Amino acid sequence: MAMIEELPGIDGVDEGTRGTVVNHRMREVTELVAGDGTWDDSLVGEVRTLFDSLAPEWTATRDHPTRNAPLLDALERGAVAGGTVLELGAGTCISARDLVGRFDRFVAADLSWGMLSNAVDGAPPLVCTDGSSLPLADGVLDVLILQNMFLFAAEVDRCLADDGCVVWVNSRGPETPIHLSCEAVVASLEAATGSGWRAVTSTVGEAMWTVVRRAATGPRLRNGAR
Ligand SMILES: C[S@@+](CC[C@H](N)C(=O)[O-])C[C@H]1O[C@@H](n2cnc3c(N)ncnc32)[C@H](O)[C@@H]1O
Repeated sequence: MAMIEELPGIDGVDEGTRGTVVNHRMREVTELVAGDGTWDDSLVGEVRTLFDSLAPEWTATRDHPTRNAPLLDALERGAVAGGTVLELGAGTCISARDLVGRFDRFVAADLSWGMLSNAVDGAPPLVCTDGSSLPLADGVLDVLILQNMFLFAAEVDRCLADDGCVVWVNSRGPETPIHLSCEAVVASLEAATGSGWRAVTSTVGEAMWTVVRRAATGPRLRNGAR
C-alpha cells in the first residue's frame, strides 16, 4: 500500500473560472502519459500546438496574487530542499518567477516556445525541451516541480537524485485539466520504477499539492532497480 501522509488543508482563494480551459482531451493525455508512458510525435505536435495557441493570453488569465500559494505551501510544509531544481512545463513562468533565488540552480523548461517567448519579467534561465527526454544527466535534480504538467515517470526517475523529490501541484485540484490524484502520482512512479514511493499531500483552497520521494534512498543500480 502506498505511503501517503495527508496534512490538513488550508484556506485559499479559489481560482473559480479564471483561466479555466475545459479540456477533457488534456485529461485523457495526462492519464495516458502517467499510465504507460504513451507519448509520440503526434502527441508532441498536438500538445505543443495547443499551448502555443494559449500562450499569448496565459499570463493575463492566470497571474493573480494567490496563484503561487499552493506551490509555496508545498515547498514549506512538504519540506522541500535542495540546490538543483527544474520546473518542467513552466509555461510563462508565473511560478518560476517566484522561485528564482530560493535555490542555488533553478531552470524552467517547456515544450512550447510560444509559452517561453511570452515569459514574464524576472523569469529564470529557460530551456525549450520535451520532458519525456530531458537533456540532463542521471540523478542531477534535487527537486522537480510539475505544476499542471504531465508526469513522465520513467524520465523523472532517471533525472531525480536518490534523495530528490517531485513537487506536484494542480491549481484547481481535480478540476484541473492536467490532474492526477496523489495516489495516481505515486502509482505511476511505482509502476515505472518497480519500487516504493512515499508522499505528503494537502490542499490550499481548491488547489492540491503532493510532494513525492522514493521510499528507500539506497544507491540505485544501473537499471533503476534497488
Ligand atoms: C497547463 S500548462 C501549465 C503551465 C504552468 N505550469 C502553469 O501552471 O501556469 C502545461 C504546460 O506544460 C507544457 N508541456 C506539455 N507537455 C510538455 C512536455 N512534454 N515537455 C515540457 N513541457 C510540456 C505546456 O507547453 C504548457 O506550457
